[in-house]
Amino acid sequence: MTKQDTTDKPWGGRFTEATDAFVERFTASVGFDQRLYFHDIQGSIAHATMLTKVGVLTEEERDQIMAGLNDIRSEIEAGKFDWSVTLEDVHMNIEARLTQKIGITGKKLHTGRSRNDQVATDIRLYLRDEIDVIGAELKRLIEGLVGLAEREADAIMPGFTHLQTAQPVTFGHHMLAWVEMLKRDYGRLQDCRERVNVLPLGAAALAGTTYPIDRQITCDLLGFSAVAENSLDAVSDRDFAIEFSGFASLLMMHLSRFSEELVLWTSAQFNFINLPDRFCTGSSIMPQKKNPDVPELIRGKTGRVYGHLTSLLTLMKSQPLAYNKDNQEDKEPLFDTIDTVKGSLKAYGDMMPALTVNRPVMEEAARRGFSTATDLADYLVRKGVPFRDAHEIVGKSVAFGVAENRDLSEMTLEELQQFSQVIDADVFDVLTLEGSVNARNHTGGTAPVQVKAAAARVKSWLADR
Ligand code: ARG
Repeated sequence: MTKQDTTDKPWGGRFTEATDAFVERFTASVGFDQRLYFHDIQGSIAHATMLTKVGVLTEEERDQIMAGLNDIRSEIEAGKFDWSVTLEDVHMNIEARLTQKIGITGKKLHTGRSRNDQVATDIRLYLRDEIDVIGAELKRLIEGLVGLAEREADAIMPGFTHLQTAQPVTFGHHMLAWVEMLKRDYGRLQDCRERVNVLPLGAAALAGTTYPIDRQITCDLLGFSAVAENSLDAVSDRDFAIEFSGFASLLMMHLSRFSEELVLWTSAQFNFINLPDRFCTGSSIMPQKKNPDVPELIRGKTGRVYGHLTSLLTLMKSQPLAYNKDNQEDKEPLFDTIDTVKGSLKAYGDMMPALTVNRPVMEEAARRGFSTATDLADYLVRKGVPFRDAHEIVGKSVAFGVAENRDLSEMTLEELQQFSQVIDADVFDVLTLEGSVNARNHTGGTAPVQVKAAAARVKSWLADR
């Protein structure tokens, strides 16, 4: 090969033969990292502005660079940009186009910078923006759940342990359990944002640069909260992406649990809730089917998000300092995680306010499962019976109810008195489902008044964010 064959690469100077065609395709990232174009240009404009302030570029050069980059952004957004695999990645594609447009000045943009600190900056800028979008979606979902909790604050359903009827709870209380999980997810996302929001630029390839750069200027221009302290660390670690994936995995785990409940509750066997038709799909063979595909799919998508977390952890594992090409593999898992989380949150955010509840069915299910048995035991304890004896008495009453196919509240006073003489007519106040939920009247309890108070607290939490 002649020297001429290598000049199509910005780094071709020391090479004597062209890149193998397969290797070129194999090592290129432009197919997926073009997604970073906006933030790559944003970072480049800040870099050029800083270089001008410290006297490395003239104002005229900076203006040419900025105009050229803004044009390129428009070309990309109009779908008129010709991405080239030969130019490997988003960074070199944009730089080559800039030089094509503005000539020799375009080649000065990369002064005092390397693709290593450039790409680390791009991902952080990109992820920061996506974190803000995801945070807003998460808040919208929480808002929808709180609305549902307020609307259904006194709707009674069976609460479960081991998926067996345990004690009656209110539907609103159940919704607020999901809200608490999502609030913690939101907190984790914001914690992660803090560590994402740090500027790598200036680290150059690994050791910093000999130009008189002022990293604080770049930092301020890009809205980062701090300059990365160590150049080797700045270009190499992707722990912030792993941390984001950790957040995403926990969020998806929560959504998968929620999805599982929606799938169960929409089944004919439970029939607790209805999802509007627009969130469901039918079967091509069974005309009666209305399937809860959206929650099922979100439950399933949890797997790929966990997979990406494992990919990123393994990608980073054992990498020596500083930058290694391995890190190019951070993008696809991160991008897919972001897309999956955004899609799942959008579907949930749209679905929640539209969900309706079948109150009579849920109440009947709570009644059928002897869910007020604990209330009867507590009643006996209040009348002086030791808890263990009370447990035994109620167990016998339940056995009688099972044989007779009747709930505790459907027995006569005489029937109940067979098991304990301390039982009085006032027992029926605690055996009703309403009595049972109203009695759990403390912070974190299921009583409707508590659900309303908790919902109000979540609303003020939302307003503070
Ligand atoms: N495409 C590369 C990546 O995603 C950009 C940095 C390449 N740096 C290098 N020295 N080859 O990580």
